[in-house]
Amino acid sequence: MTDISVDFLGFSLKNPLMLTEGPLSGSYEQIKRASGFNIGLIFTKGIRLKAAASPVPYMSKYKSSLLNADWSDIGFDSWLEVLNKLDIDIPLVTSIAKNYVSSDLAVEMSQGLVKAGSRAISFVDYDARQLIETVIKARPLLKVPIMVKLPPFLPEPEETLKKLVKAGVDAIAAMDSIGPALGIDIETGSPLMGSHDGSGYLSGSYILPVTLKYIYDISGFVDVPVVGVGGVSNYESAVEMIMAGATGVGMVTAPLLKGLGIFDQVAGGLEDFLKKKDWEGLADIRGLTRRKIEERQISTDLRAVIDQKSCTGCGLCEKICYSGAVYSRDGSYQVNREKCIGCGLCRSVCAAGAVAFT
Ligand SMILES: Cc1cc2nc3c(=O)[nH]c(=O)nc-3n(C[C@H](O)[C@H](O)[C@H](O)COP(=O)(O)O)c2cc1C
Repeated sequence: MTDISVDFLGFSLKNPLMLTEGPLSGSYEQIKRASGFNIGLIFTKGIRLKAAASPVPYMSKYKSSLLNADWSDIGFDSWLEVLNKLDIDIPLVTSIAKNYVSSDLAVEMSQGLVKAGSRAISFVDYDARQLIETVIKARPLLKVPIMVKLPPFLPEPEETLKKLVKAGVDAIAAMDSIGPALGIDIETGSPLMGSHDGSGYLSGSYILPVTLKYIYDISGFVDVPVVGVGGVSNYESAVEMIMAGATGVGMVTAPLLKGLGIFDQVAGGLEDFLKKKDWEGLADIRGLTRRKIEERQISTDLRAVIDQKSCTGCGLCEKICYSGAVYSRDGSYQVNREKCIGCGLCRSVCAAGAVAFT
């Protein structure tokens, strides 16, 4: 039997998929709705002290990704009411938008949330020093697990992560959306976001490779569970995230653009993938990429070869080869080893997987 369950922060999750902070977990009604889908864990939207609204519009699909300038929230008091009446069977992490309050106030808010029933707290801030300070203050006062969500591009990642672990953090999520970023409507020249300077933050599939490298680095620096969030949109990208080292896989943009049913699809896809590859569970693939990188032989001498049995003759490799190394002869594609420069573009476009390097 293939098993995609995971243990995380003392919770037994049916799968590693997590709905992270965003509009789909921004109220009692939204969280109730999400709880009907195949989700392992839910993070609330970033909780602010006072209710806040965002200038309109604050979300725009941007190619296959998303721009948002969404700082809205129902406010701390309303969250206490949500926690009082919420009865879902999916673990919930209450997430505090730390960047709007001092570390002392954030700790006070976290204590209030725990009193109202929260069983895990996460602090989110674009300034990682603030996160360290908050965890140092919160740790002696909170009996529940503490998480932080990191901003992209930490200046001193190893040092910061070690300080967070020393302060007592139980798990780390990475990352928040990337920005500030600007999208423009070319019909009018206006910015896509209604924020004061028109800027917003980028999320969705464009940012996946940045998140993957981040997760890979974090899981190499420290030994606490990591939640990879940023750019997951299908089971393949969830597999990449776990292979990079993630225990949990978060999503916001994909369910916003494709509906919450994406969680059911990705969970099913993960299970089928493990089954097909004969893996028993997620532990078999977690961190696999680190082992592959360590085993690899680095070479500048390898050149492309096309396996004639698997080649379908589509000709994409010849079209994309800018060094003119791929040529067709009698309906089959071949590589001139003298001309090939080993760039790898042909392999990346070959849907049949017919290109190897020797
Ligand atoms: C509309 C929107 C609102 C968001 N609001 C929050 C928030 O309140 N707090 C937070 O920590 N992250 C927030 N995020 C960031 C997401 O939780 C996530 O880190 C980011 O979008 C990358 O994941 P994705 O590519 O799956 O969307 C928001 C993202 C979006 C798109």
